[in-house]
Amino acid sequence: MTEMVLPAIGEPETLQMRQRELPLPAAGEVVIRIEATGVSFAEQSMRRGRYPGQPAFPFVPGYDMVGIVEVLGADVVDVTVGQRMAAVTKIGAWANYIVLPAKDLIPVPEGLAADAAETAVVNGITAWQMMHDLAHVRAGQTILVHGASGGVGGLLVQLARDAGVRVIGTTSSLKLETLRALGAEPIDYRSADLTAQVRALAPGGVDAVFDHLGGKSLHTSWQMLAPNGTLVSYGLATLLDSKVSLIAAFIPHLLRIYLWNILPNSRHAYFYDLWGGKTLRPRKFQQELRASLTQVFDLLAQGRIQAQIACRLPIKRAAEAMRLAESGKVSGKVVLVPDLD
Ligand SMILES: NC(=O)c1ccc[n+]([C@@H]2O[C@H](COP(=O)([O-])OP(=O)(O)OC[C@H]3O[C@@H](n4cnc5c(N)ncnc54)[C@H](OP(=O)(O)O)[C@@H]3O)[C@@H](O)[C@H]2O)c1
Repeated sequence: MTEMVLPAIGEPETLQMRQRELPLPAAGEVVIRIEATGVSFAEQSMRRGRYPGQPAFPFVPGYDMVGIVEVLGADVVDVTVGQRMAAVTKIGAWANYIVLPAKDLIPVPEGLAADAAETAVVNGITAWQMMHDLAHVRAGQTILVHGASGGVGGLLVQLARDAGVRVIGTTSSLKLETLRALGAEPIDYRSADLTAQVRALAPGGVDAVFDHLGGKSLHTSWQMLAPNGTLVSYGLATLLDSKVSLIAAFIPHLLRIYLWNILPNSRHAYFYDLWGGKTLRPRKFQQELRASLTQVFDLLAQGRIQAQIACRLPIKRAAEAMRLAESGKVSGKVVLVPDLD
């Protein structure tokens, strides 16, 4: 098998192509031929050594994948050779093959292309669970989505519009029209009067805010909520290039959210972590992952939401793909397809 290895903290160009023997699947595992993987925001943090739960170097990046089952290990049930499956891997998917536990696989519906499905794996699960399981957004409500033309943000917009929800979305000036075409009311996130613009569009406040930025944005997001509104924080993207340690930033961030949530103020605040519950209740965790992704896949397969593919590049050009994903010039997901043989 061939894979891309990130040897140490560094620039995307330090990625190295490596070949090794494809391992045999152990009991309960399967070998998958990867058809599509992609660049997630997580790799921007990981290459800087600033991902919460940072993997040890050297490692193979690749947060999620879609591929075809080629070999079954012993005791594998409910999975067949030739089936198209998706999985959240956190690392390891920038390769042409991967060995995974069969229980971690989620079937991709017939007729849904691998690259389209790939755009919805980690991003779709995140968007679905935040919107429906945490914020319980309903038809007729209004929400604010920060970074609404990104991978997660674009899916939040589309899932909300499909559910009959009005969306105000922030984006860079380059992508205002792209965001409008998705059905959101766009605002340039660099505007000096961002809060006033949101207030003008939703004078009574918004019913939910989805904030991946943290820092000062967390406070303004909280202030923009209507009574009974919900703030969902799911990242501290503004800290990417900061010198502040992750622990020193995360502890007050989580504490603030916890306090806002328990104090009597008729609003709710949560921090969403896709991996929450994996260690303590792994079976339920996997059931929820499967249920969420299956709903998003069904919407994609029915054409009710569209895959936002920023571009497709071969995995061996992963460095270029990372640069592009970090450039701020593209909307949606940078998808990687294998041609590593
Ligand atoms: N908690 C979890 O379990 C979980 C799971 C998945 C993802 N995440 C988080 O979700 C976030 C998005 O991930 P992604 O893969 O969708 O990344 P992405 O595709 O790179 O999207 C990030 C978006 O943020 C926008 N942005 C940059 N600066 C901004 C600002 N000052 N105000 C508002 N928006 C701004 C970018 O817009 P421009 O490109 O137009 O500049 C871009 O659209 C990341 O922070 C990631 O860590 C969290």
